[in-house]
Amino acid sequence: MATIEDVARVAGVSTATVSYVINDTRRVSDPLRLRVLRAMEETNYHPNNVARSLRVGQTKTIGLIIPDSANAFFAEVGRGLQDRSHSRGFSVILCNTDGDPSRESAYIDLLINKQVDGLVFVASGDNAASTRVASTHGVPIVVVDRHLAGIEVDEVVADNLKGAIMATEYLLKLGHTRIGCITGLSDVSPSADRAKGYRQTMKAAGLELDETLIIKGDFQCRSGGFAMQTLLALPSPPTAVVACNDLMAIGAISTACAAGLRVPQDVSIIGFDDIGLAAVTNPPLTTVAQPKYAMGTVAADLLVERIRNPQAPYRRWLLPTELVIRQSCATPIRP
Ligand code: RIB
Repeated sequence: MATIEDVARVAGVSTATVSYVINDTRRVSDPLRLRVLRAMEETNYHPNNVARSLRVGQTKTIGLIIPDSANAFFAEVGRGLQDRSHSRGFSVILCNTDGDPSRESAYIDLLINKQVDGLVFVASGDNAASTRVASTHGVPIVVVDRHLAGIEVDEVVADNLKGAIMATEYLLKLGHTRIGCITGLSDVSPSADRAKGYRQTMKAAGLELDETLIIKGDFQCRSGGFAMQTLLALPSPPTAVVACNDLMAIGAISTACAAGLRVPQDVSIIGFDDIGLAAVTNPPLTTVAQPKYAMGTVAADLLVERIRNPQAPYRRWLLPTELVIRQSCATPIRP
């Protein structure tokens, strides 16, 4: 089995330089780094990570905890996190909680026991998540997407309030006045902020809020379909619907079509996230894009900085959302 000395000999550098490259403990010029990496490949050398982590006190791994790995929103955030973490010498361990607080607690414990150097955390959606995060025994944490009240922690969120305002204003400008809203999980900040943006925009337009137009969903496709059924059963159904994520918007489109309605001619539907599917639904979905990949890369940078400087002041990044107009909304044909 090749040793660090073999790598140094083949690369024509000192063993210290090889160690700096492996452990990222000192700046090494790109040409030298390349020579060492090529020598490691040539000699088939694999550093002993357990020994290294004991020596440098780091495993160079980051844990990512997300509530729904089947939702492309979280997959894209994870992709940004992995790409940036890898470029900074860290591997990522992904844990999917399926929105289950008990699994969330188990994964926090598991990752701490695995001695990850830091955690990126998207809450499953219950208030106790804050206390679980707070009890991570000092392991650096960055919260993404879902704000956690009551704890001081680095955070990366999207401007959900502004996004919902843009979506609702867009429908108002098309001439809709009877606009429904399908909300997401009730106890997570993105859903609350989007519902708040919808409400305040309707109020600012001088429209009386009809609470029967606001239906609870859970960010899953089926809940969007069920919510749309409820809206269409109203004595005076809405002519447009703001869904608080794309999966629920897709469920709503499916229900509208099954009811013999045309989207957007009979009912306009707007989503939130801009996952890849949104561009290829029928009709292509107008939605509010979240900076998913950037949320992951910013989270990686914040966490690596926190690992290197635990005393740095906490930072909160609010990333912009953007209205993406496609073909699922139109001027109403009925009042
Ligand atoms: O689609 C999943 C939703 O949950 C997204 O809108 C994201 O903001 C997350 O909170």
